Amino acid sequence: MQGEVRIVDDVPGAFAEVVRDALAAAGGRATLAVSGGATARRCYERLAGTDGVPWERVEVLVGDERFVPVDHEDSNEGMARAALLDRVPVAAVHSMTAAGSTPEEAAAAYQEVVARFDALDVVHLGLGEDAHTASLFPGAAELDETTRLVVAAEHPDHPHPRVTFTFPAIARARLAVVTVEGAPKAEALARVRAGDDVPAARVRAGRVLWLVDPAAGAG
Ligand code: 6PG
Repeated sequence: MQGEVRIVDDVPGAFAEVVRDALAAAGGRATLAVSGGATARRCYERLAGTDGVPWERVEVLVGDERFVPVDHEDSNEGMARAALLDRVPVAAVHSMTAAGSTPEEAAAAYQEVVARFDALDVVHLGLGEDAHTASLFPGAAELDETTRLVVAAEHPDHPHPRVTFTFPAIARARLAVVTVEGAPKAEALARVRAGDDVPAARVRAGRVLWLVDPAAGAG
């Protein structure tokens, strides 16, 4: 694995501070790629109440998405909008779901969106209990993608067809922040730290920071 593991009691609070500082330090247009899940929701709710983020010059991308309408309860964009994006004056939100009428079309179109940025200031990632990250699942062919930045994906154990950043896209992050909370994640994180070849262990970026609560870090 790459990066620093920081054990913190307040993962959302630590996330909000790290992201604020990274976006404030970015010159000109800053970029933030959001993720999905319950941990991300808590992180975005905290970030929404954090002062000092230059939202008017932040462009938001979606790092992975369930291919459902944005108003669907499982939409990552819908979650991020409710928790954060509709509450702060972001410069732009680049919708992954709206990029195409099928996951494959959306992936091809979103490839062009991500390709515009030589680097992304912050890419946020979560960790699944199976050690997936984004929508890069164990055993998936997408794990070995070396050229495309965005692909369609799916997995029988996870709901909905997906569109997801690949590891080459994640690697464009100046800072990748992985937030991990709760005892159910302890085994997955331990496998990442042990060097097992699980999806999240393949995360590479300019800098990778793992923000982990004590329960998840107990493995
Ligand atoms: C998704 C997410 C996924 C998530 C992890 C953690 O679309 O499902 O992008 O990678 O971040 O599964 O989710 P929880 O915080 O809900 O455990």
